[in-house]
Amino acid sequence: MTDVERGSHSGLSREPLVRARAVAKAFSGNAVLHSVDLDLYPGEVVGLLGENGAGKSTLMHILSGGLQADSGRIELAGQPVQFGNVSDGIDAGISFVHQELSVVGALSVAENLYLGRFPKTRLGFVDYALMRASSKALLHRVGAGNIDPAQEAGALRAGEQQLIEIAKAARRQPRLLILDEPTSSLTPHEVESFFAYVRTARAAGTAIIFITHRLEEALGLCDRLVVLRNGAIVSERKPADTSRDQLIADMTGKPAIYDYKPRPIDHGTVALSLRNVSDGHHLQDINLEVRRGEILGLFGLVGAGRTELLDVVHGVRKPIAGELSLNGRPFSPKSPSEAVKAGVALVPEGRKTAGILPQHSVRENAAVSSLRRFAGRLFSDLRGEPDRMAAFTKSLGIRMANDLQPISTLSGGNQQKVIFARALMAEPRLLLLDEPTHGVDVGAKADLYAIISKAAESGLTVLMASSEVPEILALCDRVAVLSKGRLAGLLDRDQMSEERMLRLAFSEH
Ligand SMILES: Nc1ncnc2c1ncn2[C@@H]1O[C@H](COP(=O)(O)OP(=O)(O)OP(=O)(O)O)[C@@H](O)[C@H]1O
Ligand SMILES: [Mg+2]
Repeated sequence: MTDVERGSHSGLSREPLVRARAVAKAFSGNAVLHSVDLDLYPGEVVGLLGENGAGKSTLMHILSGGLQADSGRIELAGQPVQFGNVSDGIDAGISFVHQELSVVGALSVAENLYLGRFPKTRLGFVDYALMRASSKALLHRVGAGNIDPAQEAGALRAGEQQLIEIAKAARRQPRLLILDEPTSSLTPHEVESFFAYVRTARAAGTAIIFITHRLEEALGLCDRLVVLRNGAIVSERKPADTSRDQLIADMTGKPAIYDYKPRPIDHGTVALSLRNVSDGHHLQDINLEVRRGEILGLFGLVGAGRTELLDVVHGVRKPIAGELSLNGRPFSPKSPSEAVKAGVALVPEGRKTAGILPQHSVRENAAVSSLRRFAGRLFSDLRGEPDRMAAFTKSLGIRMANDLQPISTLSGGNQQKVIFARALMAEPRLLLLDEPTHGVDVGAKADLYAIISKAAESGLTVLMASSEVPEILALCDRVAVLSKGRLAGLLDRDQMSEERMLRLAFSEH
């Protein structure tokens, strides 16, 4: 890779050419795109991958003006745009080479290339000589120099017609070039020449989207790979850091354990905020807002202050400075039971030490925090609890003989689910999780991820400390990284990567 290429598509320091946010589209009530966020940078080739029907072409039609999104916004070079039709998109510098061929068979290749804007002589006649000469140059540019511009386009092979479509898009020198399965009918030789054109366009600063079902092509050509599944972006990866298998897993959703699924977040409502919070020991000057319905990850090295921060919110540890607020009201819990009453539940780290009452039954273990929470309005007995417990046993998939057996007789993953049941039975509005899947097997892990996602989807706010990067990437909408008791950084979903999280976690201050 040359220096020019490396510099040209790092994409980090510059403004995106296209910034799409929360783009959604349904056809007759059938949602095809859900809240898609996508940034495209000048001089970058982005591969857009996904199974048939994932919504790739629909998204491209929306970016280029052929379809209108039901909601969401699109910015081009920092300006909001709303294209009414394809020509608006073309005028703004967007060229879309469609999946379907649209060459006019009865016209010559040159006429196809200059359709609608034939060059004229000074006397006002069509300048065929100029048109042919520039067509020749144009075809040469996209690797189709052997096609005769004077030839009738209908007589050409599908691959050659495809190259004419590409040449037509190239003629406009677009800022954004969208290529929807451009290589499906090209010969291997044509693919090579076409790739050479794409690389040249990239070097000239064009932003390029390349849709393909051929993963090798995507891995070979693209700077970044975005996978769309069922209308949502499920992963963004660098070719060097991924594999065919991983991309297939992203596209198909199997295995699903480490796949992030975007969820609705109430961006306007802050559920929990910390202002300049210090505990005089571990935590220094923490400022953080957690939005309603989001899963915010807390990442950091051992000793960074993750557990301490959760302890402050749960009333175990008292801040010496700063303020907390919960759902817009000042919040200063003096004990865990005050926190529980305010609607905060905690699933603590290390269920063996902090989490369970080993000799007590599963039902008692699960009920303990709801008794506290509802002490003011319920009799302190377990009437009604068997039904609620049965419902949670079912929805969390807790495997046991019955809920009167001691919790210590359950498998680790099932014990952890009981602790989750306990937290959820208190009907919290804020759920604090500390290493929620430590020591549980992969099946229980998948179950717990589903439980956490589902809880967040129903409006629960989740603050989750974890030292597992894949777990944070699989679940969290944002991540706060702590380093030595300070907030080292806050990453939005589209900025979250293992590398950045680790860099922040190791940062000194
Ligand atoms: N105009 C339309 N009316 C109704 N449904 C549509 C329309 N256009 C697309 N769809 C539906 O939207 C979904 C996404 O289609 P889209 O063409 O975007 O998929 P794609 O990812 O490009 O798939 P492929 O790889 O097969 O080209 C499909 O279920 C499709 O049937
Ligand atoms: Mg398509």
